[in-house]
Amino acid sequence: MTKPDRWVIGNWKMNGSLASNADLLEAVRGKPESSVKVAVCAPFPYLNQVQRALGGSDVQSGAQDVCEHGSGAYTGQVSGAMLREFGATVVLVGHSERRQFNGETSELVAAKAAAALATGLTPVICVGETLTQRVAGLAEATVAAQLAPCAVLLATSSARVVVAYEPVWAIGTGKTASPAEAQAMHAFIRTQLTAIEPSAASVSVLYGGSVKASNAKELFSQPDIDGGLIGGASLVAADFLAIISAAG
Ligand code: PGA
Repeated sequence: MTKPDRWVIGNWKMNGSLASNADLLEAVRGKPESSVKVAVCAPFPYLNQVQRALGGSDVQSGAQDVCEHGSGAYTGQVSGAMLREFGATVVLVGHSERRQFNGETSELVAAKAAAALATGLTPVICVGETLTQRVAGLAEATVAAQLAPCAVLLATSSARVVVAYEPVWAIGTGKTASPAEAQAMHAFIRTQLTAIEPSAASVSVLYGGSVKASNAKELFSQPDIDGGLIGGASLVAADFLAIISAAG
């Protein structure tokens, strides 16, 4: 069985400017060579800037959402083919902020992941429970239900899918899941994935939620944590580079 790739993916969310991105991209582009796959997911308007700044480097470019449809009357949406034209190779789908603020259901998230795969993008399928769900003992059931609609595409395309576990209560709050808590959920996710498709044992399962330079090493040393999805710390070049090196 192929071992999961290790990834560090920056999620800039709705942050940045042409000027601040330029400095950040120059620093990230200069990262030391390593076997860790690195990507930055920028807001749509900056994809061209990212493409030009990272061209010829091994840092991949990504987006934070994709439309489930190929083209047509979907005002405000962006297709996978458009993202590919601007050099994107990965795309986040189902980030908890999109589930929360844009009402995305797990079925829609699965359709977006399928659209990403159909256009040659690697979907990073984000899952994770809220604090209320965790306290009620529903963390595993929540994550299993979020993954369930992706079963078909996991069965056919597991080699091209990445999963990110991001407990909602840990995102942007400074509260990280303890390495043991995160590992327990990652092991559960691995079991769920392989129950759907045995070859899904090689799917990378990333942890996200207040990953910092200071806690990355311990999180990434857990057996079922294959890297991280990094929000706030991906906007600070030195922190993002330190996190990349912690994953190597
Ligand atoms: P954070 O965000 O690292 O700022 O907690 C992670 C994410 O939402 O992807």
